[in-house]
Amino acid sequence: MTVLTENSQSPNNTASHLPEIPKGFKLLRTARIIMNPLGYLEERYQQYGDIFSQEFSSFPRQVIISNPQGIQEIFTADPKLFQSGAGNQIALPLVGANSLLLLDGDRHFQQRKLLMPPLHGERMKTYGKIIRDTTEKVIHNWTPGSTFKAQAQMQEISLEVILHAVFGLSEGERYREIQQIIVKMLDVFSNPLSATFLFFKSLQKDLGAWSPWGRFLAGRQRLDELLYQEIRERQARVQLLGEDILSLLISARDEAGEPMSEVELRDELMTMLFAGHETTATALSWALYWIHYVPEVRENLLQELSTIDAENADAIEITKLPYLNAVCSETLRFYPIIFFAFPRILQAPMQLMGYNIPKGIMLSPCIYLVHHREDIYPEPKRFKPERFLERQFSPYEYFPFGGGNRRCIGAAFAMFEMKLVLAKILSRYSLELAEKGPVAAVRRGLTIAPRGGVRLRVTG
Ligand code: HEM
Repeated sequence: MTVLTENSQSPNNTASHLPEIPKGFKLLRTARIIMNPLGYLEERYQQYGDIFSQEFSSFPRQVIISNPQGIQEIFTADPKLFQSGAGNQIALPLVGANSLLLLDGDRHFQQRKLLMPPLHGERMKTYGKIIRDTTEKVIHNWTPGSTFKAQAQMQEISLEVILHAVFGLSEGERYREIQQIIVKMLDVFSNPLSATFLFFKSLQKDLGAWSPWGRFLAGRQRLDELLYQEIRERQARVQLLGEDILSLLISARDEAGEPMSEVELRDELMTMLFAGHETTATALSWALYWIHYVPEVRENLLQELSTIDAENADAIEITKLPYLNAVCSETLRFYPIIFFAFPRILQAPMQLMGYNIPKGIMLSPCIYLVHHREDIYPEPKRFKPERFLERQFSPYEYFPFGGGNRRCIGAAFAMFEMKLVLAKILSRYSLELAEKGPVAAVRRGLTIAPRGGVRLRVTG
């Protein structure tokens, strides 16, 4: 048995055990965290506190941490102490073995260095135009009296934005086919039951076009063909290289002067398409939900937007609006789309919050539980953007994009997109919720999304 003990050098000098959920009922526990992750986590937090250990099927024993001191110790530790790629194997069928998500050590560091610049700095100006034009295209035919599902509309915007930013494409047969396949592939995991496929390798069997996994594989194969066609055409004709992320990656060279291989390019494109579009779409859907669920939030936001010409103002001016920033931040506090940061598998023993944790254990910083701590966020179950105007939270109290050497490379892009899309929609239309009651949070693949996708009605 693994014994996790509190360090005997701790202030009270007693060697006490880390709270540990008993071993039995592993399968049942795994089923619960798949079907009702937030309910499960809150219950465990009440019972065991802000650091405890437990086991799920298909994963090594893990320690769940929801204490800012513990989070700080993890995010500021030497990255060599952890492997995260190995703990992210669940994403392998989607993104491939060369994805940043699955890499560790030097290769992870090198790839991150190549992928970061296209998502930051001056390039954001180009993306601002793409985001606003795409939003315009998707929302221009909303008519008064009509209803729509926020999740579907936001997904259309975010997929088109990421495809455009990544490939520099917004039309054409290949582009349309890529778009359709991605929507279908993600739909395979759209409810908690079908998300089970990601967690159990034994379920990942190709039983033909009618089985969910068979459908997923067929989609992936066709998507691969299309991505490789695009990569090869661009490599062959350098005059086709533009300002988009694929062009930048094709031109990029590592420290040894080597370009990325075809399969590396394919895996990183898949990573950005999958990590970058559904997360942002879900965040936007939650934001639209909260803005229309809490009347004062909508009023305050409209008041702030009325101080500028939100449709035409400089994108940077919009991103600096304090209340809009607070609404986006509170949206990601309440339901941080990805509720755990990546697991960190210990490569050597570590002292964490005074406990000695042995090698091989998986550390799981729980974003959701930290974001719902009463001592940091009074009335945590109330949507209150004002809390972000009243005080600054440390990167260990508020971390919707994770931290340390794995911090999300698309964080700035996602916040930028959220703000520009919301500013455009709210300054153009009046909307109201077309839901009968509060909307619950449910698992959608590896994210937490609004059940039913949030129905909204255009009122003017
Ligand atoms: C609201 C939207 C988003 C949320 C909530 C989100 C959240 C996260 C989180 C929690 C992590 C793990 C960080 C850690 O373990 O410390 C992560 C990693 C990552 N995200 Fe995002 N993300 C979002 C949007 C995006 C976008 C737009 C892109 C790309 C265009 C992207 C690409 C990635 C990649 C490649 C990683 C892996 C980084 C690494 O392993 O070094 N994400 N994201």
